[in-house]
Amino acid sequence: MNVLLIGSGGREHALAWALSSSPMLSRLVCAPGNGGIAQVADCVALDVADHGAVITYCTDEKIDFVIIGPEAPLVAGLADDLNAAGIKVFGPSKAAAQLEGSKTFTKELCVRKNIPTAAYGHFTDAEAAKAYTRKQGAPIVIKADGLAAGKGVTVAETLEQALDAIDDCFSGKFGEAGTELVVEECLVGEEASFFVLCDGKNVLPLATAQDHKRAYDGDEGPNTGGMGAYSPAPVMSEAMCARAMEDIILPSVEGMAEAGMPYKGVLYAGFMITEAGPKLIEYNVRFGDPECQVLMMRLKSDLLPALMATADGVLDRTNLRWHDDVALTVVLAAKGYPGSYEKGSVIFGLEEAGNEEHVEIFHAGTALKDGDIIATGGRVLNVTARGATVREAQDRAYAAITNIDWPEGFCRSDIGWRAIEREEQAA
Ligand code: AMP
Ligand code: GLY
Repeated sequence: MNVLLIGSGGREHALAWALSSSPMLSRLVCAPGNGGIAQVADCVALDVADHGAVITYCTDEKIDFVIIGPEAPLVAGLADDLNAAGIKVFGPSKAAAQLEGSKTFTKELCVRKNIPTAAYGHFTDAEAAKAYTRKQGAPIVIKADGLAAGKGVTVAETLEQALDAIDDCFSGKFGEAGTELVVEECLVGEEASFFVLCDGKNVLPLATAQDHKRAYDGDEGPNTGGMGAYSPAPVMSEAMCARAMEDIILPSVEGMAEAGMPYKGVLYAGFMITEAGPKLIEYNVRFGDPECQVLMMRLKSDLLPALMATADGVLDRTNLRWHDDVALTVVLAAKGYPGSYEKGSVIFGLEEAGNEEHVEIFHAGTALKDGDIIATGGRVLNVTARGATVREAQDRAYAAITNIDWPEGFCRSDIGWRAIEREEQAA
């Protein structure tokens, strides 16, 4: 079968790597791809915002199945347009992608289905939002309603910060995404992510993960798209996963079907594990990045038939097998990220680093230029390792990194610290 994968990040490299070993695969094409993806797929420079061009490409190249990695094309309705053209696709419809595209949409679903989440108010003008915020008091969370590339959320420690965040939002800092906002109760606990496949009706749990969103060691510094991750998340015990399925995932999937927008694709739930149990922080309608990288390292089964079964509505006949051990990924980013950074520096030593046992290097922002791998993004590489313990996976990832010669990059030195502390306390 010929497969087109949409996207260009580390998540898509991990997906491409997993797909490339499928016996069902004849040809894998990735649009637009990156320097690492090019090692396992043909990369094409398609404008994925031009849905007509994607459909024409699929028809001309006899593409049987399209897998959409990032949220933007999903929220823009690429899955709907491909389906309408008779092309099979992995990824939710535009209507279902509102689970990530609109905070208010998800909050209303939670209310309808009695799903545990933070108490909230929804506002379209600053004065009303401020009055509610003053009444609730700090700490409090201010969120732009729409997609703001992960930058639309302020966890305000003081009332002043919260009021400033409201002004920022309505003054156009997040563009269209900020014309509405949600003010939320600040939840206290440990964060964890849970990934499931869903075919509109049936749900297949995948695995759990935790990421590090802050740029610097000790979880300090500015927020980023994620500087590293590991799977499984120790806080997500079997009992906690069962409870999250029962209280959060299954009612959500049921609620989406009842609303006439059945959810088909991967559902990424962000939880706060509070004293009162798991509460939903947010949904994403795609695999996490870099969480996908650790999930793919742990997946034993063939990914392609599971994604097909999701699209075909037959997930009840699918089983996936996982490695019991831990996978951990460390993000190498360009110095300056998440602020401004240079592009175009050459990265050496990737081959040696990738040859280490139990290690895979996924490329997040690279290109191949005159035979060299150059950095083209903020997050550039994901050095990913498996091990029997979080400590072992961490040691292997950092050992591989010592082979990488890239003075223009940096990484955190403590990915997995919380899980390692827990591991060492238990020992
Ligand atoms: P989101 O974009 O909704 O994932 O929010 C980004 C981050 O903000 C989350 O990963 C949490 O760390 C934090 N956050 C969001 N909502 C809340 C909340 N209600 N209480 C505490 N922290 C939150
Ligand atoms: N790592 C966070 C995300 O993919 O949204």
